[in-house]
Amino acid sequence: MPRTEFIATGFHVPARLVTNDDLARLMDTSDEWITQRSGIKTRYWVSDGETGATLAREAACKALTKAGLEPGDLDCIVYCTCTPDHFEPGNGVFLQRELGISDIPAIDVRNQCSGFLYGLSVADAWIRTGAYRRILLVGAEVHSRGLDKTTRGRDTAVLFGDGAGAVVLGPTDDPRRGVLSVHLFADGRHAEKLWVDGPGLAHDPYVSEEMLQQGKHRAVMDGREVFKFASVLMPKSVDLALQANGLTPGDVTLLVPHQANLRIIEMVQKLAGLRPDQVYANIDRYGNTTAASIPIALDEALAAGRLRRGDLLILTAFGSGFTWASAAIRW
Ligand code: ACO
Repeated sequence: MPRTEFIATGFHVPARLVTNDDLARLMDTSDEWITQRSGIKTRYWVSDGETGATLAREAACKALTKAGLEPGDLDCIVYCTCTPDHFEPGNGVFLQRELGISDIPAIDVRNQCSGFLYGLSVADAWIRTGAYRRILLVGAEVHSRGLDKTTRGRDTAVLFGDGAGAVVLGPTDDPRRGVLSVHLFADGRHAEKLWVDGPGLAHDPYVSEEMLQQGKHRAVMDGREVFKFASVLMPKSVDLALQANGLTPGDVTLLVPHQANLRIIEMVQKLAGLRPDQVYANIDRYGNTTAASIPIALDEALAAGRLRRGDLLILTAFGSGFTWASAAIRW
Protein backbone atom coordinates (compact mmCIF):
# COMPACT_ATOMS: atom_id res chain seq x y z
CA MET A 1 0.00 0.00 0.00
CA PRO A 2 1.33 3.50 -0.77
CA ARG A 3 1.64 6.07 2.00
CA THR A 4 0.09 9.55 1.88
CA GLU A 5 2.42 12.49 1.32
CA PHE A 6 1.82 16.22 1.66
CA ILE A 7 2.53 17.51 -1.85
CA ALA A 8 2.01 21.21 -1.04
CA THR A 9 0.42 23.57 1.47
CA GLY A 10 -1.11 27.05 1.38
CA PHE A 11 -3.06 29.43 3.59
CA HIS A 12 -5.09 32.59 3.41
CA VAL A 13 -6.45 35.03 5.97
CA PRO A 14 -8.66 38.06 5.34
CA ALA A 15 -7.07 41.51 5.06
CA ARG A 16 -8.87 42.94 8.11
CA LEU A 17 -6.50 42.83 11.09
CA VAL A 18 -8.15 43.11 14.52
CA THR A 19 -5.96 43.94 17.51
CA ASN A 20 -6.72 43.42 21.19
CA ASP A 21 -7.11 47.17 21.52
CA ASP A 22 -9.74 47.08 18.74
CA LEU A 23 -11.66 44.49 20.82
CA ALA A 24 -11.33 46.63 23.94
CA ARG A 25 -13.29 49.31 22.08
CA LEU A 26 -16.17 46.81 21.53
CA MET A 27 -16.29 45.10 24.94
CA ASP A 28 -14.91 45.27 28.46
CA THR A 29 -11.53 43.61 27.92
CA SER A 30 -7.88 44.60 27.60
CA ASP A 31 -4.74 43.72 25.70
CA GLU A 32 -3.19 42.69 29.01
CA TRP A 33 -5.98 40.21 29.90
CA ILE A 34 -6.06 38.63 26.45
CA THR A 35 -2.26 38.40 26.14
CA GLN A 36 -1.80 36.95 29.62
CA ARG A 37 -4.56 34.31 29.33
CA SER A 38 -4.21 33.30 25.68
CA GLY A 39 -1.05 34.75 24.11
CA ILE A 40 -3.19 36.26 21.33
CA LYS A 41 -2.29 39.76 20.08
CA THR A 42 -4.13 39.94 16.74
CA ARG A 43 -6.56 37.96 14.60
CA TYR A 44 -8.16 38.46 11.17
CA TRP A 45 -11.86 38.95 10.45
CA VAL A 46 -13.67 38.70 7.13
CA SER A 47 -15.20 41.72 5.40
CA ASP A 48 -18.26 41.99 3.14
CA GLY A 49 -18.18 39.51 0.28
CA GLU A 50 -15.82 37.07 1.98
CA THR A 51 -17.07 33.63 3.09
CA GLY A 52 -15.51 30.41 4.31
CA ALA A 53 -15.57 29.12 0.74
CA THR A 54 -13.75 32.17 -0.66
CA LEU A 55 -11.07 31.95 2.04
CA ALA A 56 -10.73 28.24 1.29
CA ARG A 57 -10.46 28.95 -2.44
CA GLU A 58 -7.54 31.33 -1.90
CA ALA A 59 -5.71 28.86 0.35
CA ALA A 60 -6.42 25.99 -2.07
CA CYS A 61 -5.17 27.95 -5.10
CA LYS A 62 -1.89 28.72 -3.29
CA ALA A 63 -1.40 25.05 -2.41
CA LEU A 64 -2.30 23.91 -5.94
CA THR A 65 0.11 26.43 -7.51
CA LYS A 66 2.94 25.19 -5.27
CA ALA A 67 2.05 21.62 -6.23
CA GLY A 68 2.12 22.53 -9.94
CA LEU A 69 -1.47 21.33 -10.27
CA GLU A 70 -4.75 22.76 -11.55
CA PRO A 71 -8.10 22.40 -9.77
CA GLY A 72 -9.04 19.98 -12.55
CA ASP A 73 -6.28 17.62 -11.41
CA LEU A 74 -8.06 16.98 -8.09
CA ASP A 75 -9.93 13.75 -7.44
CA CYS A 76 -11.65 14.73 -4.19
CA ILE A 77 -12.21 17.59 -1.74
CA VAL A 78 -12.27 17.10 2.04
CA TYR A 79 -13.50 20.30 3.71
CA CYS A 80 -13.19 20.67 7.48
CA THR A 81 -15.12 23.40 9.28
CA CYS A 82 -17.36 24.08 12.24
CA THR A 83 -18.49 27.42 10.81
CA PRO A 84 -20.17 26.47 7.52
CA ASP A 85 -21.46 29.19 5.22
CA HIS A 86 -24.91 27.55 5.24
CA PHE A 87 -26.79 24.86 7.16
CA GLU A 88 -26.78 22.81 3.97
CA PRO A 89 -25.26 21.86 1.63
CA GLY A 90 -21.79 21.53 3.10
CA ASN A 91 -18.98 23.92 2.25
CA GLY A 92 -17.14 21.33 0.13
CA VAL A 93 -19.48 21.87 -2.80
CA PHE A 94 -19.23 25.67 -2.49
CA LEU A 95 -15.45 25.40 -2.61
CA GLN A 96 -15.69 23.06 -5.58
CA ARG A 97 -17.80 25.67 -7.40
CA GLU A 98 -15.35 28.43 -6.44
CA LEU A 99 -12.56 26.34 -7.98
CA GLY A 100 -14.57 25.97 -11.21
CA ILE A 101 -14.68 22.17 -11.12
CA SER A 102 -17.45 19.60 -10.85
CA ASP A 103 -18.17 15.89 -10.62
CA ILE A 104 -15.48 14.97 -8.09
CA PRO A 105 -16.74 14.21 -4.56
CA ALA A 106 -16.71 16.88 -1.85
CA ILE A 107 -17.14 15.77 1.75
CA ASP A 108 -17.54 17.97 4.83
CA VAL A 109 -15.93 17.03 8.13
CA ARG A 110 -17.51 18.53 11.26
CA ASN A 111 -15.01 17.92 14.04
CA GLN A 112 -14.23 21.45 15.14
CA CYS A 113 -10.66 22.02 16.33
CA SER A 114 -9.81 18.38 15.54
CA GLY A 115 -11.41 18.73 12.10
CA PHE A 116 -8.18 18.89 10.13
CA LEU A 117 -6.86 15.67 11.68
CA TYR A 118 -10.19 13.87 11.26
CA GLY A 119 -10.12 15.04 7.63
CA LEU A 120 -6.52 13.86 7.26
CA SER A 121 -7.53 10.42 8.52
CA VAL A 122 -10.29 10.17 5.90
CA ALA A 123 -8.06 11.41 3.08
CA ASP A 124 -5.17 9.15 4.16
CA ALA A 125 -7.40 6.06 4.10
CA TRP A 126 -8.71 6.90 0.63
CA ILE A 127 -5.21 7.51 -0.73
CA ARG A 128 -3.75 4.33 0.78
CA THR A 129 -6.57 2.19 -0.61
CA GLY A 130 -6.33 3.89 -4.01
CA ALA A 131 -9.86 5.33 -3.96
CA TYR A 132 -8.54 8.82 -4.84
CA ARG A 133 -5.05 9.99 -5.81
CA ARG A 134 -5.09 13.78 -5.48
CA ILE A 135 -7.04 15.04 -2.48
CA LEU A 136 -7.48 18.67 -1.48
CA LEU A 137 -7.79 18.80 2.32
CA VAL A 138 -8.97 22.16 3.62
CA GLY A 139 -9.62 23.62 7.07
CA ALA A 140 -11.46 26.94 6.91
CA GLU A 141 -13.41 29.01 9.41
CA VAL A 142 -15.33 32.26 9.63
CA HIS A 143 -15.80 32.75 13.36
CA SER A 144 -16.06 36.53 13.44
CA ARG A 145 -19.65 36.76 12.21
CA GLY A 146 -20.80 34.33 14.90
CA LEU A 147 -19.06 35.93 17.87
CA ASP A 148 -20.92 37.90 20.49
CA LYS A 149 -18.79 41.05 20.27
CA THR A 150 -20.17 42.52 23.48
CA THR A 151 -18.98 42.07 27.07
CA ARG A 152 -21.40 39.12 27.38
CA GLY A 153 -19.37 37.15 24.84
CA ARG A 154 -15.88 38.34 25.77
CA ASP A 155 -14.61 34.99 27.05
CA THR A 156 -14.91 33.47 23.55
CA ALA A 157 -14.91 36.54 21.26
CA VAL A 158 -11.30 37.39 22.05
CA LEU A 159 -10.01 33.90 21.22
CA PHE A 160 -11.23 33.15 17.71
CA GLY A 161 -10.11 34.31 14.26
CA ASP A 162 -10.96 33.65 10.61
CA GLY A 163 -8.73 31.90 8.07
CA ALA A 164 -8.16 28.93 5.82
CA GLY A 165 -5.37 26.41 5.29
CA ALA A 166 -5.13 23.84 2.51
CA VAL A 167 -2.95 20.86 1.67
CA VAL A 168 -2.72 18.76 -1.46
CA LEU A 169 -2.25 15.09 -0.61
CA GLY A 170 -1.21 12.20 -2.82
CA PRO A 171 0.37 8.73 -2.73
CA THR A 172 4.09 8.10 -2.38
CA ASP A 173 5.80 4.78 -2.93
CA ASP A 174 8.79 5.84 -0.83
CA PRO A 175 8.42 3.60 2.26
CA ARG A 176 10.41 6.03 4.41
CA ARG A 177 8.03 8.97 3.91
CA GLY A 178 4.43 10.07 4.37
CA VAL A 179 1.71 9.75 6.99
CA LEU A 180 2.82 7.11 9.50
CA SER A 181 -0.30 7.14 11.67
CA VAL A 182 -3.42 9.09 12.61
CA HIS A 183 -5.24 8.50 15.91
CA LEU A 184 -8.71 9.92 16.52
CA PHE A 185 -10.72 10.21 19.76
CA ALA A 186 -14.03 11.63 20.98
CA ASP A 187 -15.97 11.84 24.23
CA GLY A 188 -19.53 13.11 23.71
CA ARG A 189 -20.16 13.33 27.44
CA HIS A 190 -18.60 16.79 27.18
CA ALA A 191 -20.54 17.97 24.11
CA GLU A 192 -22.12 20.97 25.83
CA LYS A 193 -18.84 22.27 27.28
CA LEU A 194 -18.13 24.06 24.02
CA TRP A 195 -21.08 24.28 21.67
CA VAL A 196 -23.58 26.25 19.66
CA ASP A 197 -27.06 25.13 20.79
CA GLY A 198 -29.10 26.58 17.94
CA PRO A 199 -30.47 27.00 15.40
CA GLY A 200 -30.85 23.25 15.50
CA LEU A 201 -33.41 20.60 14.70
CA ALA A 202 -33.36 19.43 18.31
CA HIS A 203 -35.53 22.54 18.84
CA ASP A 204 -39.08 23.02 17.58
CA PRO A 205 -39.20 25.56 16.05
CA TYR A 206 -35.56 25.11 15.14
CA VAL A 207 -34.96 28.88 15.22
CA SER A 208 -36.92 31.51 17.15
CA GLU A 209 -36.70 35.09 18.30
CA GLU A 210 -36.40 33.84 21.88
CA MET A 211 -33.48 31.61 20.99
CA LEU A 212 -31.66 34.51 19.36
CA GLN A 213 -32.34 36.77 22.35
CA GLN A 214 -30.89 34.12 24.66
CA GLY A 215 -27.78 34.00 22.48
CA LYS A 216 -28.15 30.29 21.72
CA HIS A 217 -26.68 30.90 18.26
CA ARG A 218 -23.35 31.90 19.81
CA ALA A 219 -20.56 29.54 20.80
CA VAL A 220 -20.48 29.12 24.57
CA MET A 221 -17.62 27.51 26.40
CA ASP A 222 -16.63 26.27 29.81
CA GLY A 223 -13.11 27.60 29.33
CA ARG A 224 -11.61 26.00 32.42
CA GLU A 225 -12.89 22.52 31.54
CA VAL A 226 -11.68 22.89 27.96
CA PHE A 227 -8.28 23.95 29.27
CA LYS A 228 -8.13 21.07 31.76
CA PHE A 229 -8.92 18.33 29.22
CA ALA A 230 -6.91 19.86 26.34
CA SER A 231 -3.72 20.19 28.34
CA VAL A 232 -3.83 16.51 29.35
CA LEU A 233 -5.26 14.82 26.24
CA MET A 234 -3.14 16.62 23.65
CA PRO A 235 0.19 15.52 25.18
CA LYS A 236 -1.23 12.00 25.63
CA SER A 237 -2.09 11.92 21.93
CA VAL A 238 1.47 13.02 21.11
CA ASP A 239 2.83 10.17 23.27
CA LEU A 240 0.59 7.74 21.41
CA ALA A 241 1.71 9.00 17.99
CA LEU A 242 5.32 8.43 19.05
CA GLN A 243 4.82 5.07 20.76
CA ALA A 244 2.78 3.67 17.87
CA ASN A 245 5.76 4.29 15.58
CA GLY A 246 8.54 3.27 17.97
CA LEU A 247 9.69 6.89 18.33
CA THR A 248 10.64 9.15 21.26
CA PRO A 249 10.29 12.92 21.91
CA GLY A 250 13.92 13.33 20.87
CA ASP A 251 13.03 12.11 17.36
CA VAL A 252 10.52 14.93 16.81
CA THR A 253 11.65 17.72 14.49
CA LEU A 254 8.47 19.74 14.84
CA LEU A 255 5.18 19.52 16.70
CA VAL A 256 2.45 21.60 15.09
CA PRO A 257 -0.37 21.67 17.62
CA HIS A 258 -3.83 23.11 17.12
CA GLN A 259 -3.48 26.76 18.09
CA ALA A 260 -6.08 27.16 20.85
CA ASN A 261 -4.23 29.09 23.48
CA LEU A 262 -0.52 29.72 24.07
CA ARG A 263 -0.80 28.41 27.64
CA ILE A 264 -2.22 25.12 26.36
CA ILE A 265 0.55 24.89 23.75
CA GLU A 266 3.19 25.43 26.46
CA MET A 267 1.61 22.73 28.66
CA VAL A 268 1.57 20.31 25.71
CA GLN A 269 5.22 21.01 24.97
CA LYS A 270 6.27 20.35 28.57
CA LEU A 271 4.06 17.30 29.22
CA ALA A 272 5.05 15.72 25.89
CA GLY A 273 8.71 16.04 26.90
CA LEU A 274 9.61 18.41 24.06
CA ARG A 275 11.87 21.46 23.97
CA PRO A 276 10.28 24.83 23.08
CA ASP A 277 12.18 24.87 19.76
CA GLN A 278 10.43 21.62 18.74
CA VAL A 279 7.00 23.32 18.78
CA TYR A 280 5.49 25.79 16.32
CA ALA A 281 3.14 28.50 17.58
CA ASN A 282 1.56 31.40 15.72
CA ILE A 283 -1.52 31.92 17.89
CA ASP A 284 -0.26 35.42 18.74
CA ARG A 285 -1.06 36.59 15.20
CA TYR A 286 -4.11 34.54 14.13
CA GLY A 287 -5.97 33.57 17.31
CA ASN A 288 -7.79 30.25 17.28
CA THR A 289 -8.83 29.42 13.72
CA THR A 290 -10.13 25.96 14.69
CA ALA A 291 -9.86 23.52 11.73
CA ALA A 292 -7.65 25.99 9.86
CA SER A 293 -5.04 26.41 12.58
CA ILE A 294 -2.88 23.35 11.84
CA PRO A 295 -2.63 23.83 8.04
CA ILE A 296 -1.96 27.58 8.49
CA ALA A 297 0.80 26.87 11.03
CA LEU A 298 2.21 24.08 8.89
CA ASP A 299 2.46 26.29 5.80
CA GLU A 300 4.20 29.00 7.85
CA ALA A 301 6.58 26.51 9.44
CA LEU A 302 7.54 25.17 6.00
CA ALA A 303 8.10 28.68 4.66
CA ALA A 304 10.34 29.36 7.67
CA GLY A 305 12.45 26.28 6.85
CA ARG A 306 11.42 24.45 10.03
CA LEU A 307 10.83 21.13 8.25
CA ARG A 308 13.00 19.30 5.71
CA ARG A 309 12.75 16.06 3.81
CA GLY A 310 13.04 13.12 6.22
CA ASP A 311 12.11 15.16 9.33
CA LEU A 312 9.49 13.91 11.79
CA LEU A 313 6.35 16.06 12.06
CA ILE A 314 3.77 15.48 14.78
CA LEU A 315 0.31 17.09 14.70
CA THR A 316 -2.12 17.20 17.62
CA ALA A 317 -5.52 18.79 18.19
CA PHE A 318 -8.26 19.07 20.78
CA GLY A 319 -11.64 20.74 20.65
CA SER A 320 -15.39 20.78 20.97
CA GLY A 321 -17.05 17.41 21.30
CA PHE A 322 -14.72 16.77 23.02
CA THR A 323 -12.69 15.45 20.13
CA TRP A 324 -8.93 15.06 19.97
CA ALA A 325 -6.40 13.51 17.62
CA SER A 326 -2.76 13.21 16.61
CA ALA A 327 -0.77 12.28 13.53
CA ALA A 328 2.84 11.33 12.82
CA ILE A 329 4.30 12.22 9.44
CA ARG A 330 7.76 11.52 8.01
CA TRP A 331 8.25 14.59 5.77
N1 ACO B 1 -11.50 40.16 29.13
C1 ACO B 1 -11.47 40.48 30.43
N2 ACO B 1 -11.98 39.68 31.39
C2 ACO B 1 -12.53 38.53 30.99
C3 ACO B 1 -12.59 38.14 29.65
C4 ACO B 1 -12.05 39.02 28.69
N3 ACO B 1 -12.03 38.74 27.38
N4 ACO B 1 -13.20 36.93 29.57
C5 ACO B 1 -13.50 36.57 30.82
N5 ACO B 1 -13.10 37.54 31.68
C6 ACO B 1 -13.23 37.57 33.13
C7 ACO B 1 -14.28 36.61 33.66
O1 ACO B 1 -15.54 37.20 33.60
C8 ACO B 1 -13.79 36.37 35.06
O2 ACO B 1 -14.20 37.45 35.86
P1 ACO B 1 -14.69 37.19 37.37
O3 ACO B 1 -13.51 36.58 38.08
O4 ACO B 1 -15.03 38.56 37.84
O5 ACO B 1 -15.86 36.27 37.26
C9 ACO B 1 -12.27 36.44 34.94
O6 ACO B 1 -12.01 37.11 33.70
C10 ACO B 1 -11.60 35.09 34.95
O7 ACO B 1 -12.31 34.24 34.06
P2 ACO B 1 -11.90 32.74 33.92
O8 ACO B 1 -12.82 32.10 32.93
O9 ACO B 1 -11.73 32.13 35.24
O10 ACO B 1 -10.46 32.92 33.27
P3 ACO B 1 -9.43 31.81 32.94
O11 ACO B 1 -8.18 32.12 33.64
O12 ACO B 1 -10.00 30.44 33.06
O13 ACO B 1 -9.17 32.08 31.40
C11 ACO B 1 -9.77 31.27 29.21
C12 ACO B 1 -10.23 32.00 30.47
C13 ACO B 1 -8.67 32.10 28.53
C14 ACO B 1 -10.96 31.15 28.27
C15 ACO B 1 -9.21 29.91 29.62
O14 ACO B 1 -10.15 29.21 30.42
C16 ACO B 1 -8.83 29.10 28.46
O15 ACO B 1 -7.88 29.39 27.78
N6 ACO B 1 -9.58 28.01 28.19
C17 ACO B 1 -9.37 27.21 27.03
C18 ACO B 1 -10.37 27.65 26.06
C19 ACO B 1 -9.99 27.49 24.65
O16 ACO B 1 -8.84 27.50 24.26
N7 ACO B 1 -11.00 27.39 23.86
C20 ACO B 1 -10.81 27.34 22.46
C21 ACO B 1 -11.72 26.42 21.80
S1 ACO B 1 -11.37 24.78 22.15
C22 ACO B 1 -9.91 24.55 21.61
O17 ACO B 1 -9.55 25.12 20.60
C23 ACO B 1 -9.10 23.66 22.34
